[in-house]
Amino acid sequence: SWALWDLATKYLYLLVTSCSGSPPNFILLFADDLGFGDLGCYGHPTSLTPNLDRLAADGLRFTDFYCTSPVCSPSRASLLTGRYQTRSGVYPGVFYPGSRGGLPLNETTIAEVLKPLGYATAAMGKWHLGLGLNGTFLPTRQGFDYYLGVPYSHDMGPCQNLTCFPPDIKCFGHCDLGVVTIPLMYNEVIKQQPVDFLDLERAYSDFATDFITQSARKKQPFFLYYPSHHTHYPQFAGPAAAGQSRRGPFGDSLLEFDNTVGNLLSSLEQTGVLNNTLILFTSDNGPELMRMSRGGNAGLLKCGKGTTYEGGMREPAIAYWPGIITPGVTHELASTLDILPTLAKLAGAKLPNVQLDGVDMTDILINHGQSKREAMMFYPTDPSESYGLFALRLGKYKAHFYTRGAGHSETTPDHDCHIISLLKPHNPPLLFDLESDPSENYPLSPLGRPDLQALLLRIQAVKEQFEASMEFGESQIEKGIDPNLEPCCTPQCTPKPSCCQCG
Ligand SMILES: *[C@@H]1O[C@H](CO)[C@@H](O)[C@H](O)[C@H]1NC(C)=O
Ligand SMILES: *[C@@H]1O[C@H](CO)[C@@H](O)[C@H](O)[C@H]1NC(C)=O
Ligand SMILES: *[C@@H]1O[C@H](CO)[C@@H](O)[C@H](O)[C@H]1NC(C)=O
Ligand SMILES: *[C@@H]1O[C@H](CO)[C@@H](O)[C@H](O)[C@H]1NC(C)=O
Repeated sequence: SWALWDLATKYLYLLVTSCSGSPPNFILLFADDLGFGDLGCYGHPTSLTPNLDRLAADGLRFTDFYCTSPVCSPSRASLLTGRYQTRSGVYPGVFYPGSRGGLPLNETTIAEVLKPLGYATAAMGKWHLGLGLNGTFLPTRQGFDYYLGVPYSHDMGPCQNLTCFPPDIKCFGHCDLGVVTIPLMYNEVIKQQPVDFLDLERAYSDFATDFITQSARKKQPFFLYYPSHHTHYPQFAGPAAAGQSRRGPFGDSLLEFDNTVGNLLSSLEQTGVLNNTLILFTSDNGPELMRMSRGGNAGLLKCGKGTTYEGGMREPAIAYWPGIITPGVTHELASTLDILPTLAKLAGAKLPNVQLDGVDMTDILINHGQSKREAMMFYPTDPSESYGLFALRLGKYKAHFYTRGAGHSETTPDHDCHIISLLKPHNPPLLFDLESDPSENYPLSPLGRPDLQALLLRIQAVKEQFEASMEFGESQIEKGIDPNLEPCCTPQCTPKPSCCQCG
């Protein structure tokens, strides 16, 4: 049949390209605090995301795709290692400018998986997996040839007097005081401090164009990782996007990211490598609802950032590869954890010799096939061995063992999301059918339902088996903070931190 012939052709193409030493290029786009309901192609009525919508229309759009943590650093650790953050020790919470710890160097990142095959690797944007003494934990120490970016969140330094929108609209709200201003780094050197928000996206776009063009010219396969600052608080955008959306500051910030996606597509087309490039897009965690209309939106999902409800960890996700990925929508269960094994498979790379939590999802991408993933685990922002999992999804069912609100999810009318909703154990677990009730509104009662009682026993068994396999790594974030480690472009200056300025 035609479909079978088509599939055979795709696999043959992949086999030939990986054996001939021209494996595919990968671009991994990672939005920040972007919710399930924020993109035009996920139903937002006023977001302007034409380029992401094009990737979705001509690629595969996931409805059941999860990150591993409702906050930033742990989610990034899992994305790059294919392992739950508890293994690498990237918990509780997130890294700060003076953090002593970072993603341990003996963890293997996607960049390190691809390097032995001759890939050129670059990261640009928000790293947030540590800096440490003399840049010990920067991307350049984790398999990336090049890095341009702010190594943590752009609200982790005074922003009150910085310009977030042209001509000179100051950043809205409060950022961290008492630390150095936000640095822009190239590889391990600070180029600018504080960073110029109005010019930042242009700098990224140019860096990406150069990287793609040079790699294509050298016929070198490449991996570009772009964890964007958009749409994390405070929103910002340069002249090309400011005032251009109908959605206010959040919409403009999102549009600026989308414009970069458009520039990446143009660069790929112009260099003739679009057909040999897989683009993946997703987000690190759910929307920061406490920012109200300046924050993201979880669509029909419950709560947002900081919580283990669906809004905290189910994310928009798109895979695009013309000629290889047939356009469509998939309801298969998938995760950021699965990206490392999938890229390794497509490139013909060796998997790291560690306990991986990700599974290969090539068959979902190329064949709209079934997921090898049976379950998804939900850890809170502060995982511990004594509490274990807060929730577990098995097939279409999700069981909550604990629920808790979060400061990041304040302000919507649902009180379960708020910080006043303290830790609550559920025994038997709170059970939802996410296919008929994606909003987690109507818990199922196992009373008089032997099928659900059997399901709960299976969920308990999967939980126990998983937890028995989980060895918590030493916490990197509990190593604490040393102000002397904060990045300063004029290291000998006084008084710190305010004297650290250049560029
Ligand atoms: C990394 O090193 C630490 C400390 O020696 C060890 O506990 C951990 O298991 C190692 N991780 C990996 C992935 O090898
Ligand atoms: C860190 O870098 C500085 C300046 O290059 C150097 O003086 C110092 O010895 C380095 N520290 C360590 C522990 O490598
Ligand atoms: C912002 O600028 C004002 C006026 O120049 C100054 O007094 C204040 O300290 C600045 N605030 C920060 C956080 O830099
Ligand atoms: C890329 O793939 C499309 C669809 O298969 C095809 O029409 C186009 O000619 C290809 N372009 C190149 C440069 O190979």
